[in-house]
Amino acid sequence: TGLVTLDPGFVNTAACESDITYIDGDAGILRYRGYPIEELADKSNFVEVSYLLIYGELPTAEQYEDFADRVRRHTLLHEDLRKFFDGFPRDAHPMPVLSSAVSALSTFYQDSLNPFDRQQVELSTHRLLAKLPTIAAYAYKKSAGQPFLYPDNSLGLVENFLRMTFGFPAEPYEVDPTMARALDLLFILHADHEQNCSTSTVRMVGSSEANLFASISAGINALFGPLHGGANSAVLDMLEGIRADGGDVDSFVSRVKNKEPGVKLMGFGHRVYKNYDPRARIIKKTADEVLEKLGSNDPLLDIALKLEERALSDDYFIERNLYPNVDFYTGLIYKAMGFPTKFFTVLFALGRLPGWIAHWREMLDDPARKISRPRQVYTGQAQRAYVPMNER
Ligand code: CMC
Repeated sequence: TGLVTLDPGFVNTAACESDITYIDGDAGILRYRGYPIEELADKSNFVEVSYLLIYGELPTAEQYEDFADRVRRHTLLHEDLRKFFDGFPRDAHPMPVLSSAVSALSTFYQDSLNPFDRQQVELSTHRLLAKLPTIAAYAYKKSAGQPFLYPDNSLGLVENFLRMTFGFPAEPYEVDPTMARALDLLFILHADHEQNCSTSTVRMVGSSEANLFASISAGINALFGPLHGGANSAVLDMLEGIRADGGDVDSFVSRVKNKEPGVKLMGFGHRVYKNYDPRARIIKKTADEVLEKLGSNDPLLDIALKLEERALSDDYFIERNLYPNVDFYTGLIYKAMGFPTKFFTVLFALGRLPGWIAHWREMLDDPARKISRPRQVYTGQAQRAYVPMNER
């Protein structure tokens, strides 16, 4: 069987070549298709960044209009799919609702099943980009016990999503431009991050030639975990916990350092960044501004600031190169926007979608593509004889 190298968690193994995202974890650099994240955050918008990630170049005005129009036109969900939401328990976590609905898209669009049909891949790409915000908004409405709103395709992607989430059928909904811009920015910052757990999952499932919807549904489930996308909710739970304990940051940090089971400084540390996460830097800069404009003087922000300062000057964190990651501040912003904690990871999924799609397409186009099939180092029993049940 040849020589097998053991690399738990793929710390040191590249599974593919990719042109999409460049990260230098020591220098704190992140670029999409060569463009620095800081510049995209400042000058671009989420729809344009989605195009860039998927097609490799910034769109011309005409290409942008065409793409934005397609992504706008496919927002409606089939009425039968809409009924799915009635079947979930009201207190269901929205992430499995999201992955189930995306998985179900394969049943409504059976033309998507052949991943080598170029035209269908284009169509599935547009459908998914357009429909995921609707699915997410319905998951929210379901949990809030409120009526669903059909998409309004005169609005942009983020505005439409906000309206479907927070609006009511009989009332006009004014989209707050500060909120829309902040959410658009957060989506840009989440749009890709090379071979993270969910993206690797999308590529792995896709390597079996499963269609786009099946592959992305698997990615959403990978993102659900608290060490990955679930961290943004976990940060807020952690901050709430500290506040409930009287706001004592020092004693929480001691528990983290003593490695109490299940106690980690959520929103800190990253597999690749061993320096400040550049996305966290951008978010920190905007968090204050956004929180102020949205009128939130959340006491949890104070706790977060103290926690960050405390950790950044503590040897435990310094020695291990643990810095705030993208999730440390996002939860506070999402909370100020009015999203419930459980919903934060759904927002991560909306942002990460173009990255997942770009990787799935790149993987299928790769002439060196092979089905993902890791090896293992077997540590179990040597051969032994079957023992009948009455002799055990
Ligand atoms: N709090 C306390 N200790 C930590 C933390 C943390 N957040 N992160 C890492 N460590 C310690 C860890 O215990 C280990 O210590 P020791 O060497 O004494 O055993 C050392 O630092 C190295 O950590 P690791 O677990 O080997 O690092 P990893 O690369 O396997 O894990 C991580 C990366 C993100 C899973 C981890 O840092 C973590 O669990 N962070 C908290 C969860 C979180 O914020 N996740 C969001 C990541 S960014 C968004 C995304 O991409 O999903």
